[in-house]
Amino acid sequence: MKSAYRLLSHFFIVSLFLFLPSQSNAQVGSAQTYENGILVTAEEHASKIGTQILQQGGNAVDAAVAVQFALAVTLPRAGNIGGGGFMVVHMQDGTDITLDFREKAPLMASENMYIREGEYVSRLSREGALAVGVPGVVDGMIKAIERYGRLPLETVIKPAIALAREGYKLSWAQANVLNEYTDVLKKYDGSKKYFLKNGGTKKWKEGDLFVQKDLAKTLQRIADRGREGFYSGKTADLIVDEMSQQGGLISYRDLEEYESKWRDPIDASLNGYTLHIMPPPSSGSIAIHQILEMLRPYDLKQKGFNSAEYVHLVTEAMRRAFADRAYFLGDPDFVDIPMSKLMSDSYNKERMQSFEQDNATPSDEIDHGEIPSFSESTETTHFSIVDKDGNAVAVTTTLNGNFGSKVAVSGAGFFLNNEMDDFTAEPGEPNMFGLIQGKANAVEPEKRMLSSMSPTVVTKDGKVRMVLGAAGGPMIITATLQNFLNMAVFGMEPQQANSAPRFHHQWMPDKLFYEEFGLSPDTRQILKDMGHNLTPTDGIGRAHTIFVGEDGLKYGSPDPRGDGKARGY
Ligand code: GLY
Repeated sequence: MKSAYRLLSHFFIVSLFLFLPSQSNAQVGSAQTYENGILVTAEEHASKIGTQILQQGGNAVDAAVAVQFALAVTLPRAGNIGGGGFMVVHMQDGTDITLDFREKAPLMASENMYIREGEYVSRLSREGALAVGVPGVVDGMIKAIERYGRLPLETVIKPAIALAREGYKLSWAQANVLNEYTDVLKKYDGSKKYFLKNGGTKKWKEGDLFVQKDLAKTLQRIADRGREGFYSGKTADLIVDEMSQQGGLISYRDLEEYESKWRDPIDASLNGYTLHIMPPPSSGSIAIHQILEMLRPYDLKQKGFNSAEYVHLVTEAMRRAFADRAYFLGDPDFVDIPMSKLMSDSYNKERMQSFEQDNATPSDEIDHGEIPSFSESTETTHFSIVDKDGNAVAVTTTLNGNFGSKVAVSGAGFFLNNEMDDFTAEPGEPNMFGLIQGKANAVEPEKRMLSSMSPTVVTKDGKVRMVLGAAGGPMIITATLQNFLNMAVFGMEPQQANSAPRFHHQWMPDKLFYEEFGLSPDTRQILKDMGHNLTPTDGIGRAHTIFVGEDGLKYGSPDPRGDGKARGY
């Protein structure tokens, strides 16, 4: 997959030179424009299914639910019913609301569940049944469609059921990613049976028909019985069986008690735009809000896009916001996050007092104590939708790693997440033997793990102007931020904004990541002289974005770093 992304990341440089004048239902660069409804997802079948639902009279929420179920069939590495995610909804009547369908730790989880003989065993939170959080997607999709959709659940799941039952032809990327994970998927009976060709003795090829009959039956149970079709009855039996065979913790009670939650978005603003962002347990909202507050006193446009001065300033704001993220943020139902302090002008001004125009601030000078650094998976997926009435939905959904825990439920045909790895699971300094730090995000029964997923709807004068979000672990936050700044500050065209080279800093490790070929050698030299530890990386985020022009024309911009598709009508 890495090599595929490398190849694609080279294409985005080329795509910068392909702009055409904008016109209806046309390709603008690699952005598509549509007058009515539009979707950008990571996968073509899902984008087409979403369009079909819009054309059948569904709104953006109906299309989002259809896409989520379609991706469970066509993007098994990240699209899912065995994981969780977040949805941000803007309704044309002015309602802005978010839905948290993040996984929860099982009731039997405990802070030291990954410690063996005093040592943190990282494999246990990353692969296998112990890594699995209680899935939230099905409850979330049902809540969303019941409150804001127009179509029945059966109607929006139907195309996904057909795709699973009849099969679809694998693309090169779909075949390749399944083959790449053969060795690990072979270890689990369900995964081997459903996702490997001939049990892993043959390789999938582009054009092979990929049929998922047990998944089709699971989806049909959901269509017939709603949440009961997943959280109780046969599907629950199969999940609990898999758990007992593989040493996992999820029980019938965990499944019965799982509930997704409506939460108010966190709003941030700049240049007349308002960003409505997923609140905690997503960390993206507070981080983006803080970064924009830290940048507010500066004339960013005057500094110039990706000039050394600009990269330095934005990096320093990122560094400070990520240090706060590591210390303060966790599940708001469990920890008291000092939200108003973190988002206040005064706190963010104070945070930037140590900013020096010509020098990088070492990360260990701005921390809040002993917090372990974190590493997060980058294999999430994001999709954006705007319908003809101006309703908008941003969804980021994940199994965490590619194919999550790598455990597919035998008899049910879908992968379970490894989201438990998003808790602070590493022990702290060696002198704190066995003690897990970063308390705000430590494992507790029924707690939601902190996330970087940052689905965002941006409005101006009450109208949707952008739908943002990305895949990419912590890079989600910085990719989403830069897409917004590219448009709102530099006035870039939609696809230009999404294609433009990105950079990323997450406090720890103290590295300024930049996309290879994204910064000129002299810019890099100036940044090095300031003390930044420059580190090239393949691609920073995969952001599937919609931009709406003042004239109402909708631009769908799949990130050239991924293989997403914009569709609409
Ligand atoms: N598992 C990726 C995230 O939640 O940010």
